[in-house]
This record gives sequence, C-alpha cells and structure tokens, in this order.
Amino acid sequence: MGRLSGKVAIITGAAQGMGEAHCKAFVKEGAKVILTDINAEGGQKLADSLGENALFIHHDVAKEADWIKVLAEGEARFGTVNVLVNNAGVLGKIAPTTEFSEADYRWVTDINQIGVFLGMKTVLPSLIKSGGGSIVNISSVAGIVAIYGAPNLAYVGTKFAVRGMTKQIAVEYGDKNVRCNSIHPGYIRTPMMAAATDEDGGDALSMIPLRRLADPSEVSNLAVFLASDESAFISGTEHVIDGGMTAL
Ligand SMILES: NC(=O)c1ccc[n+]([C@@H]2O[C@H](COP(=O)([O-])OP(=O)(O)OC[C@H]3O[C@@H](n4cnc5c(N)ncnc54)[C@H](O)[C@@H]3O)[C@@H](O)[C@H]2O)c1
Repeated sequence: MGRLSGKVAIITGAAQGMGEAHCKAFVKEGAKVILTDINAEGGQKLADSLGENALFIHHDVAKEADWIKVLAEGEARFGTVNVLVNNAGVLGKIAPTTEFSEADYRWVTDINQIGVFLGMKTVLPSLIKSGGGSIVNISSVAGIVAIYGAPNLAYVGTKFAVRGMTKQIAVEYGDKNVRCNSIHPGYIRTPMMAAATDEDGGDALSMIPLRRLADPSEVSNLAVFLASDESAFISGTEHVIDGGMTAL
C-alpha cells in the first residue's frame, strides 16, 4: 500500500521542476495523478512515462475555463478529486519595483495568485464530494520574509497572498474535512531557480545554513506527507523547507 493509495490528485505546473518531482512521487505512492501545464509536450511526455495512473491535460492556471475542463476530464477518468497541489508559478522579471509595469505585475499575479484562487474555487466541490481532501499550495520563503535582491514585489506579494489564502480556506472549509496548507521552499534546484541565480546557487549559498540547494524530490517528500492521511490533523499551516535560510 502506497501512502497515497486510493487518492486522486491534480498537480499543476507538472512538466518540469518541482511539479515533475511531485508527480513522480505521488504516482510512486499509489495516487492517480492529473498532471497539468501550459507545456503540453513536456507534460505529455512525463504522463506517458508514469503509465496508466497519470493523465496529462493542457491547462493555463490563470484561465477559469481551463480549470473547469481539467476537473471535468480528470473526474471522468479517475473519479472525484482528493488532493489539489497548486504548484504552477512564475518568477516574473528580476527588477526593482520602479522598473515594473502594471502588465508585468498583473502577469505574475494572474498565475501565482488568481491561478490558486481559481484552482481552489473549482476543485473544492470535488474534494467535498470525496468526503474531504487536502489542498497543498506552493508558496515560497518569499511568502514568509522579504528577501534582499529577491525577484520582485509581485513575486513576494503573490507568495504572501497564497499563505493567507491557505489559512482562509482552512478556516472556511475545515467543517467539510478539507485541509489546506502551504509549502515555502527556499532555493530548490529547478529550471526556475537556475534562471534566477546560476546552476550552483551562486551568492545564495551564503544565505543557506546547510550550504546547499535542495533537490526537488526533498520538497516532494513534504508534499506527499501533506497530501496523505498522515497529516490528517494539520491544516492552515505553513511548512518551510529552506535549509535554515529563514532562521538567519
Ligand atoms: N525553485 C525554487 O527555488 C522555488 C523556491 C520557492 C518557491 N518556488 C515555487 O515552486 C513552484 C514550482 O517552481 P519550479 O522551480 O519548479 O518552477 P519551474 O519554472 O521549473 O516550473 C514551473 C512549471 O509551471 C508551468 N507554468 C508556468 N505558467 C503556467 C500557467 N499559467 N499554467 C500552468 N502551468 C504553468 C511551467 O510551464 C513549468 O512547467 C512555483 O510556484 C515557484 O514559485 C520555487
């Protein structure tokens, strides 16, 4: 028996990085996984490699119609959903606030914040139909503290928003047995991180007490735990996984 046997999960931003690692871990632990991403080629390739318990659906998290399609096709294939992992996110350009246009800011917000709202709004009825479920929202250490030289105000703003939205959903839907928690990764070795620093983490290493970056699978361990019944009494909480960075 896997730790997620009998569970149906939707994981967004599944084509690469942490989303890819979460999909692999969830299937390994016995879940049926609906993988979604705007990158159709990468997402389909991963789903094919994971076998019959994985279904890829092309999906822009910022579009409500796409969410409705994901839920309908996902439920038709695997039944009602037990777990939603809102992982898809973008960094936006690395620039100070005065160099950010309204369009730059709205783009990051549409994906990182509105996307999480649309996902929770669309999938909550399915979780409730299942008798309850677990929502895992991927925020960031940038949703815990501001970081000097961090990507930008929009990223920090949206990641703080996700932390607050997580608590509100935990409070609103706790009596329906829906749990909602946020994960706050520090520097994790993914294509997004490589775009923000360099392959080895560059200057970021001096901010990390453990003096290394994490492998995406280390975050998947936490995502599996929060998705599973092992965490049945944990809701409305933030889970930092950052090698000690925010302890400094
Ligand atoms: N890598 C890190 O160090 C780090 C640290 C803290 C938080 N995070 C967060 O973790 C999550 C995953 O990050 P990652 O490093 O794996 O990123 P990544 O850029 O490597 O992968 C993100 C995935 O999301 C997809 N995506 C982008 N926009 C989308 C949209 N509109 N709809 C659907 N899919 C979309 C991309 O195609 C890609 O496959 C993000 O929310 C990110 O903000 C990452």
